[in-house]
Amino acid sequence: MEIRQAKADELRSGIAPVSHYFGSEPAEENVRRFERVLRPERMHLAEEDGQVVGGASAFEFQFTVPGAILPAAGVTIVGVLPTHRRQGILTQLMRAQLDDIHERGEPLACLWASEETIYGRFGYGMAALCGEIELQRVYGKFRKQPEHGGSFRLLSFEEALEAIPPVYARVAAETPGMFARPREWWEARALHDSEARRDGAGEMVRVLLERDGQGIAYAIYRLKMDFEAGNSTGEVRVLEAMGVDGEATAGIWRFLLDTDWMDSVTAELLPVDHPLFLLLEHPRRMRFRLGDSLWLRLVDVGVALAARSLEGDVVLEVGDAFCPWNDGRYSLDGSKIIEKPDLRLDVSDLASVYLGAFTFAQLRRAGRVEELTEGAISRADAAFRTDRAPWCPEIF
Ligand SMILES: CC(C)(COP(=O)(O)OP(=O)(O)OC[C@H]1O[C@@H](n2cnc3c(N)ncnc32)[C@H](O)[C@@H]1OP(=O)(O)O)[C@@H](O)C(=O)NCCC(=O)NCCS
Repeated sequence: MEIRQAKADELRSGIAPVSHYFGSEPAEENVRRFERVLRPERMHLAEEDGQVVGGASAFEFQFTVPGAILPAAGVTIVGVLPTHRRQGILTQLMRAQLDDIHERGEPLACLWASEETIYGRFGYGMAALCGEIELQRVYGKFRKQPEHGGSFRLLSFEEALEAIPPVYARVAAETPGMFARPREWWEARALHDSEARRDGAGEMVRVLLERDGQGIAYAIYRLKMDFEAGNSTGEVRVLEAMGVDGEATAGIWRFLLDTDWMDSVTAELLPVDHPLFLLLEHPRRMRFRLGDSLWLRLVDVGVALAARSLEGDVVLEVGDAFCPWNDGRYSLDGSKIIEKPDLRLDVSDLASVYLGAFTFAQLRRAGRVEELTEGAISRADAAFRTDRAPWCPEIF
């Protein structure tokens, strides 16, 4: 078995193993879209007797963490053919990929896990949660009307390509868990209206909320129109909606909830601290359902800690079996030290508190951190505290 970097014309072979589990060969159109956003040298292949049997790739992200923006590997297209599973091929791919990420100086790696059982052993920890909703429009009333002072405009694909990215960029820069999207990403992914993704609904609709000529919020959605016994059972399927501040966010959601003819509004991948909880008169009616979203790997613990500019006096002893260069004791500024530790934990559990999704107190209640000095848990929580939940609005 050889593990190696892909050549320029090998993207298709690298996509094929995971594509197999989606039930098809990689569609030509998908391969072309990946070509636009993934550099071949970021794809690792497992090859046996001239046949590619597994692969793992990484996008190059500028990724927001509390207080900073860091380069991060966005791990994607991971798969091993069923004929070769459980022979250690993923482990070899993860080895090659994490060594590569480390050499490139990217302190973080992140991914969406198809199954929660796969990545913990490689040092990834659950680092963000997300929610999905299904809200009947009759229960969509707000406690108070938003006062955004703006107006709405439906956008063509070309208009959206100009108007939406600046709004996204403002939100992404201050939301841990989000990453910058270059133009190719918008064209090939976020605004790409794939027929295969419509699932019975209509074309992608893009709307912008503008104030004083400047975009302040947007939504990308589809309408799925239907009637039953003469009554609408139509659904507004929100693909992505966000605003630069509270009024703008409330405004765009008011717009979605006011779509005539439609019976319900559904959305997935929402932040767990979504303002809808406090805006709606009937928040329970959202049927907000929680799940894990982003998994994070601190590839360079020292750099990752330093970037958070944490204040406080706590010594962390971090264990990292898969990337032993991280093993050791750290002060909160990220320096490696020899002092007696106050807390001991695995690198995957540190990832769970890093973006602010969980606290050290929660880790302790789950038996995932050892408090060696009394009071260290609350001191660490005071240092790591963030004022918003991490949010990754997109599966990649
Ligand atoms: C997940 C997948 C890549 C694993 O590849 P693999 O080559 O079989 O993995 P390995 O042989 O290196 O497994 C390493 C360890 O992880 C465990 N493991 C791997 N996949 C697992 C899974 N899905 N659930 C639970 N444990 C798993 C193995 O049992 C093994 O454990 P061990 O060391 O205690 O024996 C492969 O099963 C696959 O392609 N699945 C479908 C596509 C997919 O889910 N891709 C991930 C997208 S995020």
